[in-house]
Formats: sequence, C-alpha cells, structure tokens
Amino acid sequence: MKIIQAEYSGPLNGKVHIPGSKNSSLALLAAACLADDIVTLEGIPRIDDVRIIAGISRDIGMELKQEGHQVVIDPRWIHSAVIDPGKASSFRASYYFAGALLSKIGRVTIGFPGGDDFVSRPIDQHIKVFQALGAQVHIHHDYYIVEAAELKGADIYFDTVTCGATINAMLAAVRAKGRTQLHNAAVDPEVVDTANFLNRLGARIYGAGTERIRIEGVSYLNGGMHTVIPDRLIAGAFLMAAGLQGGQVTVKDVIPEHLGACLAKLEEVGMHVECGESHITAYGTGKLKATRIRTGMYPGFATDLQQPMTSLLLHAKGKSIVTERIFPKRFAHVPQLRRLGAEIEQRQESIFIRGGLPLQGGWVHATDVRAGTCLLLAGIAAEGTTFVTGVEHIERGYEDVIGSFRAIGAKLYLRELDAQELPGRMHRQG
Ligand code: EPU
Repeated sequence: MKIIQAEYSGPLNGKVHIPGSKNSSLALLAAACLADDIVTLEGIPRIDDVRIIAGISRDIGMELKQEGHQVVIDPRWIHSAVIDPGKASSFRASYYFAGALLSKIGRVTIGFPGGDDFVSRPIDQHIKVFQALGAQVHIHHDYYIVEAAELKGADIYFDTVTCGATINAMLAAVRAKGRTQLHNAAVDPEVVDTANFLNRLGARIYGAGTERIRIEGVSYLNGGMHTVIPDRLIAGAFLMAAGLQGGQVTVKDVIPEHLGACLAKLEEVGMHVECGESHITAYGTGKLKATRIRTGMYPGFATDLQQPMTSLLLHAKGKSIVTERIFPKRFAHVPQLRRLGAEIEQRQESIFIRGGLPLQGGWVHATDVRAGTCLLLAGIAAEGTTFVTGVEHIERGYEDVIGSFRAIGAKLYLRELDAQELPGRMHRQG
C-alpha cells in the first residue's frame, strides 16, 4: 500500500509549475464526444480520472490517445452510448458523458456518478436539464437511461447554482434544435473554458461566465484544438504552503484572476501576495491572523480550498471559523487533523479552529483529494513525521504530488508498506 511520509520541512521556498485543471479537463474530454472530427486537447493532466475516461472512450468507440499532456480524440466512430456502471461511478464527472452522448446519439445508458464522498451530492439539476430539453430519464438501481427522439431548446432556471449541471446543460443543448437559455448559471472558469472549447468547434454559446447563458443549437461541430485552463485549486494550495512557516512560493502558468477570493483571504490572514501576468508569488510573514471563511460558488471562496486553508489557519493565533456552504458535510479532514493535535470543533456546517498550537506528526488518512492536500500541508508543518494513507485519493487530482511539493522544499516521500505494517486503526480505515 502506498503512503506518503511527511517530515517537518520549515519555511517552503521555490517555484512550481501549475498543471491543467482537473475539473475542466474532465468536462472537455466528454465535450470532445460532440465533435464530428478530430480534437486535440493540450495541458490535460495525467491522472486516474483521465485514464478512466480513456477506458470509457474505448468502450464507446472513441479513440483517445494521451502523449504527455496532449490528448488526441477521434469521436467519428462512436458506436455505443452504453457506459459501464462501474467505470461511471468511479469518478464524479461521468455525468458529462450523459449530456454529451444524449446530444450526439439521442440515448445513453450510464452508471451514477461517484467520486469524492461529501455525504450528499445530488444530480437533480442535471436530470431537470435533460427533461427540460425533451429527454426522458429512466432511473434503475445502479444506472440510468436518458433518451430523446429530438432535443429542443428551452428556458432552464437552475434551482441552485451548480457548475456541473451548467456545463452539462451546455453539452446537452449545443446540438439541440433552437435556442436554450440557462438562468442562474454558474460562472466558474471551468464553465467558460468548456464554452470556449465548444465555440472553437463551431458551437454558438453566448454569455458563459455570466448568470445567463444562451445557446443556439447547431447540427455539426468541427474538430479543433484547445488548451485547458490552469488548475486554480492546486495553485491556491501551493500559495497557502508559503504561509505555513514564513516562506515564499511562486506558482507559474496560472490565471491570477481565477484566484481572486483566495488571494484576498491570504492577504487578510497576513500574507503578502504579488501577481504577474501568469504567475503569483505568496510571501509568508511568519505571523498569521485568525479569520472567518464562508465558502461559496465562484467567484466566492472555493469549497475545494477550505481544507488546505484549514491547515494554514492552524498556525494563525486565535479562533478561526470556516463555514462550508456548498457541501455542508465536507469536513472529513477535521478528525484527521485532530490526530496531529489540532483543536477544531465542528458544529453543523462550521468548524471552529483554535490556531497557534504546535502539531505533532502521526498517522492520518486522506478521504479525498483536497482533504489529502490539507493533510500534506499539516504534515510538513508538524513536528516529527506524519504518515498519510489514502494516497490514491490525492493522486486523483495531482499528477506528481510529491515532485511538486518537493520543488518548494517540502520533505515528502512516497513509501510502499504492507498492510500489516500499518497501525491498527489505519489498517481498519483502509
Ligand atoms: N447541486 C445540486 N443538484 C445538482 C448538482 C449540484 O443541488 O444536480 C448542488 C451541490 O450539492 C452543491 C452545489 O450544487 O451544493 C454546487 O455543486 P456543483 O454542481 O458545482 O459541484 P459538482 O459538479 O458536483 C464540481 C467539482 C468539485 C467542486 C464543485 C464546486 C468536478 C468533477 N467536481 O462538483 O470538485 O468541489 O464543483 O462547485 O468538476 C474537487 O475537485 O476536489 C471537487 C470535489
């Protein structure tokens, strides 16, 4: 079993290249199904979710080749829209294949989305979109079927702001007959990236990045080339690393505007941040102030950044409060941080952090990619040695987590252990 060993590393200093966005890549790879010719995507990270998509592509007759960070997709020979429930439920973004294949073929059979478990992650807004466009949705035990003789444009009002369902609505509507308008749409960079990609192929999507998106259906999409946006969530976590012990970290190849709320918070807790055109440098001053965070949809403070931010706030004297408004139960990292000596109390959708106490190394388990990042940050700032299990969850989001953290001086090592070598509690946790 893989574990990551983290040693106390002192101030972190250095530069790190930020890879392409995982979440955008997953949307773009499914969107590529919609094209009628060959598509090349640049900057796609080499992560497990992409490997699963490669498997799905083979099953449906779509050729997908990844060399380095370039993925070449030939969607001209798609012959099936039946997606194995096991593959679909091994990652969250499989729902994008429902929208894309419904749009292209008119019928898709697919398993329910899996991915990180935050207790409740409904897909009612995705279903609502398909139905609004004229599709029928049949729910079975471990899969669902979506079918339509013809998709017709519609006015769709989202009940809640959702990035996933906004992207899926664009995928489903792009080849529908007539005009679709999405109201209360998400404005995330991943939505804009997907719209830009589809427009490059000949789609007619207007207003992505605002709360109202208009899609004029087209009957044909060309092939083309697109570069995925950088991963703002990975970038944010590395900038936080600079604040742990008073270091200086530069993230390269980023879009600073995508990190506005994060950078404002880093300044608020006493860090200093400087932005260039495509890089950001964060300076830790060695003194952090406690703060209050409420997560929100973009451009608010991202839910995916509250876990690494919690590790930073453990070093800010006083009481910080983090309120999770997107996935109110997304606190699986908290009991793990307590194992390292953190004093954190959880009440409903908020945690109360008593910062400024020393952390002691120990055994912790990562349950999802962002919780894993949080534990790595905690481990490199804790006295002694921390062992992190659940490495497969971290690797779902990072192509080379060890290499990237080592580039800024973090003492992280990948180890292989037999299950018997784990302490009893970790063994049971898996
Ligand atoms: N929601 C609904 N109904 C739906 C869909 C969403 O009520 O049908 C709610 C959710 O429960 C949540 C809110 O809407 O309260 C926003 O959810 P969203 O649809 O935006 O999330 P998602 O598509 O499930 C994506 C990312 C997550 C990220 C959220 C934040 C992917 C594959 N996943 O999830 O990324 O936290 O957006 O908006 O793109 C991660 O990268 O670690 C990760 C979990």
